[in-house]
Amino acid sequence: MKALILCAGKGTRLRPLTFTNAKQLIPVANKPVILYSIENIKNSGIKDIGIVVNSENREAFQEKLGDGSDYGIKITYILQQEPKGLAHAVRISKDYIKDEPFMLYLGDNLIFEDIKEYSEKFLKDDCSASILLTPVPNPSQFGIAVLDDHGNIMKVVEKPKDPPSNFAIIGVYFFRKEIFEAIENIKPSWRGEYEITDAIEYLVENGKKVRAHVIYGWWKDMGRPEDLSEANRRLLEKLSRRKILGNVDDIKNVYGVVEIGENSEIVNSQIRGPVIIGKNTVIKDSYIGPYTSIGNNVFIQSSEIENSIVMDNTTIINIDRRIDNSIIGSNAKLVKTDTRPRVLRFVIGDYSSFYHSE
Ligand code: G1P
Repeated sequence: MKALILCAGKGTRLRPLTFTNAKQLIPVANKPVILYSIENIKNSGIKDIGIVVNSENREAFQEKLGDGSDYGIKITYILQQEPKGLAHAVRISKDYIKDEPFMLYLGDNLIFEDIKEYSEKFLKDDCSASILLTPVPNPSQFGIAVLDDHGNIMKVVEKPKDPPSNFAIIGVYFFRKEIFEAIENIKPSWRGEYEITDAIEYLVENGKKVRAHVIYGWWKDMGRPEDLSEANRRLLEKLSRRKILGNVDDIKNVYGVVEIGENSEIVNSQIRGPVIIGKNTVIKDSYIGPYTSIGNNVFIQSSEIENSIVMDNTTIINIDRRIDNSIIGSNAKLVKTDTRPRVLRFVIGDYSSFYHSE
């Protein structure tokens, strides 16, 4: 079986981060979101993975993941020129998939559930498709499925105003070749996209067997900044072992589960885990609080930060209020100086946010 990971979306709700990085390459707990998916797919026995990219993010993926050999997989990149929807992305991947059964995985999904069990069940079943669902409190924002008592799908509908159930399609699907015929028979939705949900509905309406498995573990699609923060918290909660490779001047100031990468320096600072710090990073006269991920080559001095993500090559100096619940991209500079007049000076990109509370 092959897998297809879709990464051609624009990630507009994650601007400005997605101006310079693909959404699936944004790090949570210091690892790009897509690598969690790749690990899960690989764990289910699939090593041949197609990644659908767009012309803007293609290079970034190729640079980060290469041909996949560093991760023990083989990656084929497939270019989706126009954002015409998930079903369109599958259609253009037909030459890659051929007639094989395949797993479709939305690249911005993070699930903790092991998907191996579901891919094994699918391969033993004679169904045309199988999809993973989870109950959600806000069903109008997802593809929604209605099931019978035996786990068969009776109906699926994309983002219904009046949801017939609260079982959301989470973005992990298994298909056999019938899906390609279904895709040929659907029309674009109101948002102008070929929806994979409509292709699944076509299968159901044409008497094909579509199965469903409901999962109850944690799942999120990384659509908004708050999703990244929550995922970061959840992943850091799962850290179980201390791993300190860098230098710490006084280990008594490091509490709880903390990872510190090679060549990093912790000087006169307090670190309270769970915290993960990358390589070549310097933390001086500062406090790093729980649920914080700090990338590589970061410099933090005389500042306090918790519940946050700080990406590579960023500098934070003398910020005299605790930075909380923040996502700070790479190569950013946050500096407070004593020069007069006392001013705020910004060079911040489009769609950035700055909140200041007295
Ligand atoms: C897509 C699918 C939807 C699914 C969701 C899961 O929506 O169309 O059926 O429930 O992913 O994240 P989109 O993220 O494109 O709005």
